Amino acid sequence: MRTQVGIVGAGPAGLMLSHLLSLAGISSVVVEDRSRAYCENRVRAGLMENWVAQMLIETGVGERLKREAMVHDGIFLAFNKEAHKLDFTDLVNKHVYIYDQKEVVTDLIAHRLAHGGEILFEVQETSVHDFGGSGGKPTIRVRHEGQVKEIACDFIAGCDGFHGVSRPSLPAGSWTGYDRVYPFAWLGILSESPPPEKELIYAYHEHGFALFSMRGPELSRLYLQVSPDEEIEHWSDDRIWAELNVRLQGVRPLPQGRILQKGITPMRSYVAEPMQHGRLFLAGDAAHIVPPTGAKGMNLAMADVRVLSRAFEAFYRRQSTEALEQYSATVLRRVWKGQRFSWWMTQMLHRVPGGEYAGFDMKRQLAELDYVATSRAAAVSLAENYSGLPID
Ligand code: PHB
Repeated sequence: MRTQVGIVGAGPAGLMLSHLLSLAGISSVVVEDRSRAYCENRVRAGLMENWVAQMLIETGVGERLKREAMVHDGIFLAFNKEAHKLDFTDLVNKHVYIYDQKEVVTDLIAHRLAHGGEILFEVQETSVHDFGGSGGKPTIRVRHEGQVKEIACDFIAGCDGFHGVSRPSLPAGSWTGYDRVYPFAWLGILSESPPPEKELIYAYHEHGFALFSMRGPELSRLYLQVSPDEEIEHWSDDRIWAELNVRLQGVRPLPQGRILQKGITPMRSYVAEPMQHGRLFLAGDAAHIVPPTGAKGMNLAMADVRVLSRAFEAFYRRQSTEALEQYSATVLRRVWKGQRFSWWMTQMLHRVPGGEYAGFDMKRQLAELDYVATSRAAAVSLAENYSGLPID
């Protein structure tokens, strides 16, 4: 097989890249080790920055999003038994959208397959080769339907997530990983019940953080800060509801319903720099992950592939390699601001139990929340970052 850009991973980054390239007349092949059904059904974070929604709509993959996404004007911060609304429309004149990542993936897969796109699902033993120098012939090798297949390409895009093969294939010594692990995790549930508010509630409580999000008017997505070594077996449905109620502490009534899904996700900040070597380019979680508190994961991935697709376009249209050479430096400016904001939201809203400074930190966090809730300058800063910094 031969293609212009070989893409590892059929998540939002890989699929959107393949879609943008196809609009620019550039061919690609996507390989993915999971099944199509798995990709389309895995519940992930669901908050989309305004410009991402516009990009999906403007490039012809936003029909279902226009019908089904929930448009939110802002968020609530809850602390000291009160909820404070941050109204993004008033503060920065922007909305955000709730549309689960799996819906984006579903829409992109359908669109790519309907437009002649090639996606190989359930591949095994994926490896990337010969992307190092300018003279190399980049190749993706996979086992697919029992056969070893080689995809010869001009470039490889590693969009295969934090645990993918692309990042570890970069030569040792050519890159640095910047890491921060947090002493807590999120227990997330999907529940057949209406959310307690029309918009998201980020709640700070002595017991720890809780987030009240949603997937529909009758479907809630709720999270609890738990310890990173917590086991899901120790959390009965009753215990989860009791703790959610404590942390919402009478701010709103909390409707309960059947829990359809539950799981625990660790929290980590990570950036690999630079995000490229030779003809291999990393995008999305393959290069960087954020704790979910800032709702930036998918949005940063989309920003990466928007820049990368334009760089490929400059190469194929005008033989210009400048944008490709600058790719990592260009996207890392946004990535690090996303890192900063995600870390900031996380440190403001989570309890770090024990330790010498626990008492001081709790008072400081409450002061910070009070500041954001009452100062327009602070609220504008949160709103500007949360709804999405400007794209160029
Ligand atoms: C979600 O709805 O899954 C969600 C929303 C906002 C976040 C994290 C997760 O910050």
